[in-house]
Amino acid sequence: MAGDLYKKPILFAIVAAGVILVGTAVTMFIPMLTEEMHPKLANLKPYTALQLAGKDIYQREGCNNCHTQTVRPLKTEVMRYGEYSKAGEFAYDRPFLWGSKRTGPDLARIGGKYPDKWHEVHFDNPQAIFAQSNMPAYGWLRDSKLDPNESASRMKANDFPYTADELARLKDKTELDALIAYMQVIGIAVKKTPEPASSGITDIPNPLAAKPEAIKQGLLLYKEICAACHGDNGEGGIGPSLSDRKFLGRTADGSDGEYFTVIQNGTQAGMPPYASNLDKNKMWSLVSYIRSIQGNK
Ligand code: HEC
Ligand code: HEC
Repeated sequence: MAGDLYKKPILFAIVAAGVILVGTAVTMFIPMLTEEMHPKLANLKPYTALQLAGKDIYQREGCNNCHTQTVRPLKTEVMRYGEYSKAGEFAYDRPFLWGSKRTGPDLARIGGKYPDKWHEVHFDNPQAIFAQSNMPAYGWLRDSKLDPNESASRMKANDFPYTADELARLKDKTELDALIAYMQVIGIAVKKTPEPASSGITDIPNPLAAKPEAIKQGLLLYKEICAACHGDNGEGGIGPSLSDRKFLGRTADGSDGEYFTVIQNGTQAGMPPYASNLDKNKMWSLVSYIRSIQGNK
């Protein structure tokens, strides 16, 4: 009987196709429809109307042609960008914007990395922050206002919850506001790997204090890394002034060790941590430089 089947090519093709289809249905479609195949992280929230508008602008402008949004589970990537991407992060991304080309850096962990003001300066003129950047400027996005009606239909299409109030507030917002709101929500459902615990260094005086060599090195580092946020001469900008004697909102100045710790560990309010980019001597030399500009005042 089975031997006969091999002699009838058309019947054989039909039976074979049937068997393969059943196999496909069982191994592919059934799992696709089960809940476990669609994980959702506990912290993941649907996009707000403003964030969704930003996501749509990201897609419209083709940011994903230069930026990926997925960190692979490789040591080098995790060291550079942070926690690797999880399947449960993308449940509300329709479509997801993983991208496949990194002309610019991955953005999967951009949320909360910089203050809003930083993004504004960077979108206005990327070269003001990184002189060699080939990223185009997007400041013109601030000339277009959002349209609440259009947002309503997009929220509905995605089945995301929204309120009339929330939509009404959109009409004062620009496309640039939306894009920045979107930047700040990317990847925040995943907990950040905790920064190395403060090394209890806060009482130690600066071993390089007032050394001319250290001040010189600090100045070079400062211009390269810090000036974009703290101003060319420490006068402040996106971040606070470093040339005054105020420290993190206190009127009293910080100790050398406190300055060091802020540079090492960063803060929740937008100062990035430098523990993994700069060694101790470099961080102390930055403290020496900051003290030297405070002395000039
Ligand atoms: C031609 C390629 C290109 C395009 C298009 C582009 N970028 Fe970039 N982007 C870069 C490069 C290169 C950098 C790194 C230098 C810099 O920060 O300017 C960068 C950096 C960034 C950063 C900072 C990342 C970090 O971790 O420091 C953000 C945020 C960003 N881009 C967002 C966007 C958004 C949003 C769009 C679309 C509106 C966009 N980019 C379009 C090339 C591009
Ligand atoms: C992305 C922008 C950004 C960059 C780059 C940056 N900072 Fe900051 N910095 C901030 C912000 C924002 C604060 C305020 C943090 C807060 O209030 O918690 C801050 C606070 C500080 C403080 C606390 C001082 C005070 O007077 O309150 C010091 C010191 C400091 N930064 C030093 C540096 C040094 C040194 C560098 C370069 C290695 C640097 N920062 C790079 C944004 C930045």
